[in-house]
Amino acid sequence: MQIDPKALDAASRYKLMIGGIVPRPIALVSTIGPGPEGVVNIAPFSFFAGVGSDPMMLLLCPANNGSGGEKDTLRNAKPVSEGGTGEFVVHICPDRLARKMAACAEPLAYGQSEAELAGLTLTASAVVKPMRVVESPLAFECVTRQVIRTNPGVPAGGNIVLGEVVSVYADEGLINERYHVDPAMLDAIGRMGGLEYCRTRDRFELPMGRAALEGTAER
Ligand SMILES: Cc1cc2nc3c(=O)[nH]c(=O)nc-3n(C[C@H](O)[C@H](O)[C@H](O)COP(=O)(O)O)c2cc1C
Repeated sequence: MQIDPKALDAASRYKLMIGGIVPRPIALVSTIGPGPEGVVNIAPFSFFAGVGSDPMMLLLCPANNGSGGEKDTLRNAKPVSEGGTGEFVVHICPDRLARKMAACAEPLAYGQSEAELAGLTLTASAVVKPMRVVESPLAFECVTRQVIRTNPGVPAGGNIVLGEVVSVYADEGLINERYHVDPAMLDAIGRMGGLEYCRTRDRFELPMGRAALEGTAER
């Protein structure tokens, strides 16, 4: 079967993407509204990826909301020149944080904090203004370098928020002296299609290239 995305309705296109591009890592993102009264906003995003390590860049994709407007995360994280604060913090979500993370997807009015709703503990970040979520063992503090809008003003249109990591927080013991992250301690979850998630407790190793074809593993 071959599918022409243009022949599908928006909901079917979305289902093909979230059910097919799996598992997706989850960025629990904190931002702060512009101005002195800026309220902390927290929301999860699974259209999220690393971009490069020199400089250390990552991206996340807050789609336009149902009326074509910007979600609060984009509104806050976009560069200062576009009316935002130009900063955000990405937190990796361990299994024990799953419920609170999902609660943060509640569409609250702009200026109301999901942290309070979900019962998350916030503390000052090292470099950027948006607060860090204490319950996450690994957090990337970012400065927004660019926002790319793929269909501005249209519901479900995409936006890429490109951020440079300016500081990394890791719980004691999560990272060894060679900067290997302990996957068991991180215990990250991923998002699947629909309302499903997966754990990262079933892992295996393979060498890269030709060597991957050698050996006796049953896969
Ligand atoms: C696990 C998970 C992943 C999500 N991933 C995305 C995503 O990649 N892009 C998106 O626009 N919304 C995503 N959402 C929905 C947003 O979190 C939701 O729209 C949220 O209310 C946006 O908050 P904000 O308006 O405060 O930015 C996701 C929700 C969950 C629970």
